[in-house]
Amino acid sequence: MPEADTVKPTKEKNYYEHIPMATPGFFLKGASALDWGMKNRLARIFNPATGRTVMLAIDHGYFQGPTTGLERIDLNIVPLMPMADALMLTRGILRTTVPPALTKPIVLRCSGGPSILKELSNEELAVDIEDAVRLNVAAVTLQVFIGGEYETRSVHNMTRLVDMGLRLGIPTMAVTAVGKTMTRDAQYFRLACRICAELGAHMVKTYYCEEGFETITASCPVPIVMAGGKKLPELEALTMAYNAIQQGAAGVDMGRNIFQSEAPKAMMQAIAKVVHESLKPKAAFDLYETLKNQEAGKPKRRG
Ligand code: R5P
Repeated sequence: MPEADTVKPTKEKNYYEHIPMATPGFFLKGASALDWGMKNRLARIFNPATGRTVMLAIDHGYFQGPTTGLERIDLNIVPLMPMADALMLTRGILRTTVPPALTKPIVLRCSGGPSILKELSNEELAVDIEDAVRLNVAAVTLQVFIGGEYETRSVHNMTRLVDMGLRLGIPTMAVTAVGKTMTRDAQYFRLACRICAELGAHMVKTYYCEEGFETITASCPVPIVMAGGKKLPELEALTMAYNAIQQGAAGVDMGRNIFQSEAPKAMMQAIAKVVHESLKPKAAFDLYETLKNQEAGKPKRRG
């Protein structure tokens, strides 16, 4: 369906996957021309030493309620937060459950509307940019449903959020939503990610695909962070993160593969090694197992 220009191509496409885009004056792809405040916020999300981030996504409740692993964020997720580089969540969880003394950068979910019981692409902006400022967030984020029933509405939501954020120096992360039925292949994600960047997103969160992920990162002029998707066995999730990083992702924004893991703290630490130090999947899995066993051996706190 996507990429109308592939009909009777006269020339093969060339993404120059092996030539990274230049980043003059600032470490992050596509951010050189941004203002100081915008760059400073991005530098809180992406570690300037590696150019990468491990974002913990816990915003699932905004459309699917108390997701498995997120039933009690106060008990099960708050202890994980110091291990993340950034947190992606809703203002409801931020205000009710996250200690204000936590100084991790917040990427604030700003779209919403339909629940899992309805058409998911029918979203609206659900946060005023003033509230994002009040909450001292590092970035705002929303779903963009390219090819979805309400595609134009979701794109317009994004361009409005980008415009509001630009006025105040707050970057926008677009999430390429796949909905219930949309294809997840490189051709689709190239289309979706590039549209988001062309229309102003400062970073894009998208899913990994086995074939051609490096063409998605190469053809998108802003950083891409990989979404985790459904829960996988730990070695597979670590391998997926490793491959995404090696193929040009600037980090991960993972939820279920961390908080639904048997040992979320161990998984978080293993993922961080993969992202920031390019630790190989097998070594990262060994680390995960070691940390998991250490955690299991600790006496449980009472009360
Ligand atoms: C889902 O709509 C939310 O944006 C999540 O943040 C996103 O799906 C990432 O979480 P997971 O790694 O569980 O897919």
